[in-house]
Amino acid sequence: MTKILVIDDERPILDMLELSLSSEGYDVLTAENGEKALEIFKEQSPQLVLTDIRMPGIDGIEVLKRIKTLNKEVEVVVITGHGDMNIAIAALQHGASDFVTKPLRDEVLMVSIERAEKKLAMCRQLKDYTDNLEQKVEECKLSLRQAQEQLVKTERLASMGETVAGLAHCIKNIMTGLGGGMYMFHTGMVKEKPAMVEEGWAMFQRNMERVSDLVLDLLRYAKQTAPQRGPCRLNEVVREVMRIFRVEAGIHKVALSMDLDPDLKEADIEYDGMQRVLVNLIANAVDACIYDADISKKWEVLVKTRVRTGADQVKTIHITVTDNGCGMTDEVKGHLFQRFFTTKAGRGIGLGLLVTQKVVHEHGGEILLESTAGQGTSVSVLLPVV
Ligand SMILES: Nc1ncnc2c1ncn2[C@@H]1O[C@H](COP(=O)(O)OP(=O)(O)O)[C@@H](O)[C@H]1O
Ligand SMILES: [Mg+2]
Repeated sequence: MTKILVIDDERPILDMLELSLSSEGYDVLTAENGEKALEIFKEQSPQLVLTDIRMPGIDGIEVLKRIKTLNKEVEVVVITGHGDMNIAIAALQHGASDFVTKPLRDEVLMVSIERAEKKLAMCRQLKDYTDNLEQKVEECKLSLRQAQEQLVKTERLASMGETVAGLAHCIKNIMTGLGGGMYMFHTGMVKEKPAMVEEGWAMFQRNMERVSDLVLDLLRYAKQTAPQRGPCRLNEVVREVMRIFRVEAGIHKVALSMDLDPDLKEADIEYDGMQRVLVNLIANAVDACIYDADISKKWEVLVKTRVRTGADQVKTIHITVTDNGCGMTDEVKGHLFQRFFTTKAGRGIGLGLLVTQKVVHEHGGEILLESTAGQGTSVSVLLPVV
């Protein structure tokens, strides 16, 4: 029940107001003068005040001012005499919510009081809202975080589905290759055809290597931890990886050469990661020669290392793998870093460049790629020296 304090020095008016407001459901307190009114106000803290203006002692304007100083959220409606417009304006200026003029009419008074009450309710709501604002912001933040987590989960599930599908396809290809190799090997043995045996064995070996590449690339790709840096002689890693490709390159008449910077000493780099980078880049370069349709070319793959010092004295290691193989069309370039994208049916996996990019980025480096269809490709890995 809303408490209202009614102040008027004329007893009959006070009684009449008490009666009509009580019948409207208000808890009515009355005072015949300003002094008494302020006492009651301090004791009872009514939310609404209805006060006459012209009163002996403390007048209505003064009561209004003091009440507003005590509690500025209280709504005060003033009662003015007919034609007391200046007083009414002064009251509004001091924070009265409304004024009613004498002689008082019940319906006018009620409209005014109800309006003041609505204002009170709005203020209360605003206050509640402000008080709760912080909590509401926290609630919003929480639901936002939950939605974000949900999204990440959904995306992760979707990309996991994609990965599994790509992987299944890749394994199927390898199995077909292994099966083909075994069939050739077996037939060659039965029919005593050594060339077939050899070819079958080579197919078998090639596909076993693909299994190993797939596993190593997948493991590196899925690795979440930071690279395990350590003293690493990059020129040595290049030499080791080139050794792995010597036989295959020889079979396909691809010349392998190196141009290694003697100033490139030990660098703080992850050995395993760099080995994957070089295996993938050199494998791609050799493959590009094998897949090249122009058999008149003398295919070459060159791996070059350099240490360069920038204008800011920051040192960068450059590893460049260049081939004069088939090169890439613009369409291929657009899909390069896509999971399981390969143009090498029966040979590719489509993780090589992705793993390379991941390792290089983890080392704070970048990859630069230049390629012309039919002419060749050059891939450079730039690593900041830390
Ligand atoms: N040196 C290159 N020359 C021509 N094409 C290349 C070269 N390197 C990469 N590519 C193209 O990019 C594709 C993706 O390479 P990669 O991620 O290593 O997967 P994969 O070698 O298993 O196909 C290759 O299938 C090929 O089309
Ligand atoms: Mg590759």
